[in-house]
Amino acid sequence: MTEQSLREDQVSSNPIEQFAHWYEEAQQAHLPEPDAMTLATATRDGRPSARMVLLKGFDQRGFVFYTNYESGKGRVLEENPRAALILFWAELHRQIRIEGTVVQVSDGESDAYFRSRPKGSRIAALASNQSAVLENRERLDARVARLTEQYGPGDGVGDDDVPRPTYWGGYRVIPEIIEFWQGRRDRLHDRILYTGQNDGTWSLTRLFP
Ligand SMILES: Cc1cc2nc3c(=O)[nH]c(=O)nc-3n(C[C@H](O)[C@H](O)[C@H](O)COP(=O)(O)O)c2cc1C
Repeated sequence: MTEQSLREDQVSSNPIEQFAHWYEEAQQAHLPEPDAMTLATATRDGRPSARMVLLKGFDQRGFVFYTNYESGKGRVLEENPRAALILFWAELHRQIRIEGTVVQVSDGESDAYFRSRPKGSRIAALASNQSAVLENRERLDARVARLTEQYGPGDGVGDDDVPRPTYWGGYRVIPEIIEFWQGRRDRLHDRILYTGQNDGTWSLTRLFP
């Protein structure tokens, strides 16, 4: 591990820019899955749940992942549209924590992403009632076989034939806070917290490790 640090006078004043900088470094470091993140949600009465999802895009509006709107997480987000995300890049000794509110992305945005996926992934999205009970594996395989017959074989990207199911699409986590954690050899790690302000700017504070 090379000794990295986070200094208030070196980080960006905008956390999305800082995120972009770290994300690029994670990609350049050839980590196995730099886009994998934990998504934590909670029911309205406070029962937490967490699972991994893949980061598919980010910009000043927030952080986007795709899923089934009728899955466990989809139902929980419907009753309580708040979430926390964690990205952890062990090799870089870095953690990013994001907390905020969650909205569905536009149909156009979901359509565009769905179309960009290989046909096998699109058929899988269509075939899976994500998080519902599945009696046995054969039932899923049979559904996939039926859909593959219907839409034809191949793994073409970009063709329009497999329609995006209305129950599948993106969520955007609109950040209220973003914390960057840089591990240090002396255990006195660096933590920089950005907090969104009402006027759209961000305040920056350092936290005890
Ligand atoms: C590395 C990794 C990435 C994953 N990415 C996604 C994803 O982008 N979208 C998704 O719906 N599920 C993804 N999953 C599966 C979820 O972790 C989870 O099993 C599934 O979404 C059902 O969760 P739920 O019952 O809480 O809705 C991923 C799992 C792993 C291990």
